[in-house]
Amino acid sequence: MTASALNMMPTDASGAKNELIGSSPGLRRVWDAVRMVARTDAGVLVTGETGTGKELVARAIHEESARNRGPYVKVNCAAMPAGLLESELFGHERGAFTGAVTQTTGRFQLANNGTLFLDEVGDLPLELQPKLLRVLQEREFERLGSARTIRVDVRIVAATNQDLAQMVQERRFRADLFYRLNVFPIALPPLRERLEDLPPLVQHFVRKFALRMNREVRHVSPQVMEALRRHPWPGNIRELQNVIERGVILSSGTEFFLPSDRLGSSFAQNGLGHTGFGSNTLEHDAAAHKVDGGPAGDTPGVGRTLAEAERDHIVAVLRQAGGVVGGRNGAAARLGLARTTLVYRMRKLGIGQGRGAAGHEGSGVGKLATPAHMTAAVGRGAVEAAWLS
Ligand SMILES: Nc1ncnc2c1ncn2[C@@H]1O[C@H](COP(=O)(O)OP(=O)(O)OP(=O)(O)O)[C@@H](O)[C@H]1O
Ligand SMILES: [Mg+2]
Repeated sequence: MTASALNMMPTDASGAKNELIGSSPGLRRVWDAVRMVARTDAGVLVTGETGTGKELVARAIHEESARNRGPYVKVNCAAMPAGLLESELFGHERGAFTGAVTQTTGRFQLANNGTLFLDEVGDLPLELQPKLLRVLQEREFERLGSARTIRVDVRIVAATNQDLAQMVQERRFRADLFYRLNVFPIALPPLRERLEDLPPLVQHFVRKFALRMNREVRHVSPQVMEALRRHPWPGNIRELQNVIERGVILSSGTEFFLPSDRLGSSFAQNGLGHTGFGSNTLEHDAAAHKVDGGPAGDTPGVGRTLAEAERDHIVAVLRQAGGVVGGRNGAAARLGLARTTLVYRMRKLGIGQGRGAAGHEGSGVGKLATPAHMTAAVGRGAVEAAWLS
C-alpha cells in the first residue's frame, strides 16, 4: 500500500486486491462518501466518465459495509437484450419461454444479504424499468413463469457514465426509478481534474506491470510525467493504465519509455483501449504524427507534446548512458530499442541536427549537440561528450 493510496482495497474476482490510488481532494471526497454510505443500506448511484473507477467504488462500498461477508453480484445492464436481462435479474422457471430448459436463479436472489451492482444502468431497457423499481421498493419479485413471490434483502449500487437526469428529461429513463437509484449519488471526478493523482497512479501501474512482466523498469522521467500531465485523458484511468502497460512492454532497463509510435493506433483499433480512444488521444495523435513524418513542431496539441517528450526522454536517456547509443548499457538498450531504430528516431526528431532547438529554448535539448557532434555520435555509437554537458 503506497502512502498516497487511500485505504480502499476492494478485491476483484481473482481475489487480487485492487487499490484505489490517489489522495487528491476529489478522490478524498469520494472516499469519505463511500465510508459514510457503506454503513447504511441506502441505494448508491455512482457516476463519472468512462474509466474513472466506478466499478472499484461499487466494490469498495460492498467491502466497507456490514454486508461484506455476503455476496457481491454484478449485472451489466448494457450487455444483453431486454428479455435475457430480465431473466438474468429475476431468474426463470423451466419452460417459461422457448429455450428455458432449466430453472435459473436470478441475480437478485444470488445477491441476497449482499450487494447487487447494476452497471451501465442508463442502458436498462425502458420496459424493464418498472420491474426494477418494484423490486427496489417492495424487495420482492417473481421468477419469469412463476407466480411465487421471492423476498430478498439486497443493497443496490448502480453506475452509469450517462447523464440520467438528462435522460429523464428526454423520457429515456423513468423519473421514479432515477430518484430511487439516486438516493446517495457519488460523482467520480475525471483524471484531468485531479492531476495530483497522476504521479502515484503512474508509479503504481509501472510497478504493477513491471512485476507482472518481470521487468526492471521503475524510473519515470520528469519529461514523460509532464507529457502525461498534458494529455486530456478522455479514457481516464483505464486509458492511463493501457498506456503504461504498453510503455512497460516497450521498456527495457530501468527507464520507463512512453510509447508514441504506430503501435498506438493499432492498439486503439484493436479495441484494447476500451472506450475513450477518440481522435485526440495520446496514441492517435502520436501515430498520426509519426505516419506523416513531419517535424515535431508541425503538429499542434497533444502530438507535438509527445514528440517533445519523446525527444526529451531520448536525450535524458542518452545523458544517463554517457552518450553511448549502442551496446549493452547504451541508450538504445535502455530504451528497449534496436540501435538502428533509435538512430532513426533521433534523426526523425531532429535530435542534434539543429531542429531539436526549435521551440525548445530552455529545455537544454538544443544546447546539447551540434549537427557535427550528432552525426559523429550516431555514426560511431560511441561516447559523445556533447550529451554530457
Ligand atoms: N483510483 C484508481 N486507482 C487504481 N486503479 C484505478 C483507479 N480508478 C480506476 N482504476 C482502474 O482503472 C480501470 C477502469 O476502472 P473502472 O472499470 O472502475 O471504470 P468505470 O468508471 O467503471 O468505467 P466504465 O464507465 O467505462 O465502465 C480499472 O482497471 C480500475 O482498476
Ligand atoms: Mg464500469
